[in-house]
Amino acid sequence: MRETTFVPETEIQRQRGIMEIVRAMADRPHTYYIVSMGCQMNERDSETVAGMLTEMGMTAAPAREQADLILYNTCCVRENAENKALGNVIWLKELKKDRPELKICVGGCMTQEKGMAEAMKRNYPFIDLIYGTHNLYRFPEYLWRVLTEGRPVVEVEQTDGEVVEGLPEKRRSTFKSFVNIMYGCDNFCTYCIVPYVRGRERSRRPEAILDEAKRLQDAGVKEITLLGQNVNSYMGGGAAFADLLYRLDALGIERIRFMTSHPKDLSDELIGAYATLEHLMPHLHLPVQAGNDDILRRMNRHYDRARYLDVVDRLRAARPDIGLTTDIIVGFPGETAEQFEQTMDLVDRVRYDSAYTFIYSPRTGTAAAKMPDDTPMEEKSRRIQRLIDRQLQITKEILEGMVGRTETVLVESVSARDGSMMGGRTPRAIMVNFPGTPALIGRFVKVRITSAGKNTLRGEMVANQGE
Ligand code: SAH
Ligand code: SF4
Ligand code: F3S
Repeated sequence: MRETTFVPETEIQRQRGIMEIVRAMADRPHTYYIVSMGCQMNERDSETVAGMLTEMGMTAAPAREQADLILYNTCCVRENAENKALGNVIWLKELKKDRPELKICVGGCMTQEKGMAEAMKRNYPFIDLIYGTHNLYRFPEYLWRVLTEGRPVVEVEQTDGEVVEGLPEKRRSTFKSFVNIMYGCDNFCTYCIVPYVRGRERSRRPEAILDEAKRLQDAGVKEITLLGQNVNSYMGGGAAFADLLYRLDALGIERIRFMTSHPKDLSDELIGAYATLEHLMPHLHLPVQAGNDDILRRMNRHYDRARYLDVVDRLRAARPDIGLTTDIIVGFPGETAEQFEQTMDLVDRVRYDSAYTFIYSPRTGTAAAKMPDDTPMEEKSRRIQRLIDRQLQITKEILEGMVGRTETVLVESVSARDGSMMGGRTPRAIMVNFPGTPALIGRFVKVRITSAGKNTLRGEMVANQGE
C-alpha cells in the first residue's frame, strides 16, 4: 500500500464556507432524497452527503416525489446494478418534466467508470450534477455551481489515494454505525471493477478511527461495523488490523463487526483476536468466490481451496460458535461442470450460515472480460439455482439447531411483515423476530428461540431482563 495523503483541512474549511453560502440562498432546494445502491461503502458515503445537505439547510423528504433534490449514489459491480441505476435515472426525466426546478445529482461508483460520466452527460442532459467517488468532499462546491451557473456540472476526478477527515455526516441509525477504516482496493480480482472505481488502497489513521468510535460510543451507539474492501490490508497487514481491533475492543463498545476480509491474508493475529476479544462478534464474512483451484487462480485470488478450508478450521478452533457467511460467483468464464461441483462440495464442507450468490457479470476493462466464456446462460442459471437450494437447506439446518437457546439480541426494527413483531440480530448476526414494541429499538434483549424460518429465527422475550 502506498503512502496515504490527506486532503488539507483548509480545503474542508473552504467546503464548509460554501455550505454556509448555499444555506443563505433563498432559492436553493429545501428538501432532499438520497437513493443509496450497492454496498456499505456507498451507504456510508450517503451519510456524508446527507450531512452536507443538512448543513446547507435542507431536510430529508419522505419520498422522491416530494424532494427538491434527488441524489443517486450508484453501484456498478454487476451489470444489473448498473441497469437499475440507469433505469432510475431515466424515470427521473419524467419527474423533471413536471417540476423543472428539481435538481438531480448522480454520484457513486458508476460515474467513476471510464467514459461513463461523458456518456451520461450526452444521453441524460437533465442530470444537474455528476460527480465521482474520489471527489465526494467537493460536493458542496459542485452543488453551488449548479445553483449559480444554471447548467449541468460534471466533475469526475481520476486522482485517488487521498483520505478526507472532518466532513459532516448524518447517520441513519443512532445505535448501529459504520466506520470506514480504509478505502480502495489493490487486489484486482480479475472479475471485479471495484479497484478501478474506488482507487488504490489507503488507510485512515488509527487515532482518527478511535476518536470516531469513541464519539459514537458516547452518543449511545451499541454496535460498530468497520468498513474496507479488504480490511486485512489496513495499514499494510493483518497484524495492523488486529492491533486496531484490540484498541477498539478496549473502548468497551458492546459489539464490533467488520467487513470485508480477504482469505489470502487473514492473519494469525486476527484469528487470535476471535479467541480473545470480548466485543468482537462471532461472525465473519469471508468471500470464497469459488471452490476450484484453477478458477481461483484465474480469478487472481491468491489462495487455494485447501488454504481456505484451513483458515476456516483455525477460525472455528479459535471461536467454536463463529458463524461464517460468504460470496460466491457462479459461471466464471470457462467454469466447467466439474469445477462447479467443487464449489458445491466446498459449501457442504464449510456450512455457511448464509451466502450471497451471483452469476458472473462481465465488466468492461477487467481481465476476466477478455476470457472466453462458452457456458450458456441457461446452464449458469441451473448451477446457481442448485447452489441456492443447497445453501438454503444448510441455513435451515443451522437455524433449527439454534431452537431452544436464549440469545442476546440488539433490536433494530419493526418487522416489515407484522407490525407487532420486532426484529434484531444475535451476536452471530442472525435475524430474530419476536413479539415486542418499538420502544425496544436500540436495546439489547434476551430472546428464547422457539422456531426457525427460511433464513430468520423466531422467538419470545425472556421475562425479567433485569435492566
Ligand atoms: N471487497 C469485497 C466485496 C466486493 S463486491 C470483497 O472482496 O469481498 C461484492 C461481491 O460481488 C464480491 O465478493 C463478488 O462475489 C461479487 N462480484 C464482484 N464482481 C462481480 C462480477 N463481475 N460478477 C459477479 N459477481 C461479482
Ligand atoms: Fe473486488 Fe477482489 Fe478487491 Fe474485493 S478484493 S473489491 S472482489 S478486487
Ligand atoms: Fe458497488 Fe461500488 Fe460497492 S461498485 S459494491 S457500490 S464499492
